[in-house]
Amino acid sequence: MTPPFILSPSLLSSDFARLADELAALEAAGLSWVHLDVMDGQFVPNITFGPPLIAAMRKTSRLYFDTHLMIERPERYLAEFRAAGSDLICVHAEATVHLERAVAEIARLGAAPAVALNPATPLSAVEWLLPQLDMVLIMTVNPGFGGQSFIPFCLDKIRALSALRRERGLAFRIQVDGGVTPDNTAALLAAGADVLVSGSAFFGHPPYKERLDVFHAAADSKPA
Ligand code: DX5
Ligand code: ZN
Repeated sequence: MTPPFILSPSLLSSDFARLADELAALEAAGLSWVHLDVMDGQFVPNITFGPPLIAAMRKTSRLYFDTHLMIERPERYLAEFRAAGSDLICVHAEATVHLERAVAEIARLGAAPAVALNPATPLSAVEWLLPQLDMVLIMTVNPGFGGQSFIPFCLDKIRALSALRRERGLAFRIQVDGGVTPDNTAALLAAGADVLVSGSAFFGHPPYKERLDVFHAAADSKPA
């Protein structure tokens, strides 16, 4: 039996014209988290949505809002994202020179603090903050778009972070985002991941309850 994991579907691959229905369908399928990709056209080449849309969704959904900020200097907007209803706020280590201050601010606002690392960013960028974090997000593609392929060396990075967590006796979650599919699910969980983000490999295969079952079955299979 693989340890339990959380699947956090990335709304980026959902039907933006039917967001309330999509959120309701996730809840009905038994999901508890939804991953919200916020992009500013600066930190990443793409633009998505911001606090007003999250606030509108908050009115229709009780899902845990796992908010991934791919924006420059996220410290400028943390209070707005919290007020909009984000439960967890994840900032990129590469997007601010004052990462500790941003993490402390997220906690002060009452949200769960998390830090994301791009594929090429070393774990040392977040090492001293680990005791303050609820989650570390290991990006397994270069952020900006859904539907990209998993970068293989990132598997070793997940293993290294999991080993560090064990050595330090810490309990932060490890989230993996980018190119996650049922095919690599078992390997990611074996490497130490607790939260898997899936966009195209989830929303592209309705109905969602059955797709969640496919991920659960994959979790119990032997790592490829
Ligand atoms: C990429 C985003 C991801 C993306 C994942 O920049 O952070 O959350 O939506 O999409 P897939 O699962 O299709 O790689
Ligand atoms: Zn994401």
